[in-house]
Amino acid sequence: MTAPRSQGVGVLVSGSGTNLQALLDADIPVAAVAANVEGAPALARVATLGVPTAAFPLRDFPDRDARDAAMADWLESHGIGLVVCAGYMHLLRPVFLARFPARVVNVHPALLPAFPGAHAVEDALAAGAAETGATVHLVDEGVDTGRVLRQEAVPVVPGDTPETLHERIKAVEHRLLPEVVRQLIVA
Ligand code: GRF
Repeated sequence: MTAPRSQGVGVLVSGSGTNLQALLDADIPVAAVAANVEGAPALARVATLGVPTAAFPLRDFPDRDARDAAMADWLESHGIGLVVCAGYMHLLRPVFLARFPARVVNVHPALLPAFPGAHAVEDALAAGAAETGATVHLVDEGVDTGRVLRQEAVPVVPGDTPETLHERIKAVEHRLLPEVVRQLIVA
């Protein structure tokens, strides 16, 4: 008999954590939050909630594989069965992905496969795109190449700056990400 899959949701962050906040506001059972940098503002969002947090800065490890393996160990020790990258700005190594097969999702501020990478909002503006959007997708070893689970378009409007456009995209992300995560944990 197969052991039941653990349903705890682990969230990986690097920055402000508005998508983490959206998960919390939607009552997603966030059971652990890890960052690749110390002092990520996102970590403070769970400081008073009793949710365990940890930072895994690269300088504490011999290489990325060792860092990602330690992060996977820590998540598993907290019963995590689904990992959500919510503004996590490092690629995850295969050693990490193998621990959570088809159970790592990411939110990306573009309509993938358009504008992958770390500058998706700026790239959409620079390309003169009439619309861009938000995508929630499975994470594989590529840069934003995993299977798309949900996406929604966001129009680019005259006078948009990277900041104004990103804010409108984030408003969509904050709705899509909790919806997809909820589907994955009840499936
Ligand atoms: C989001 O736009 C997400 O798509 C991208 O990084 C941003 C993170 O924002 N990967 P936040 O930290 O959740 O506010």
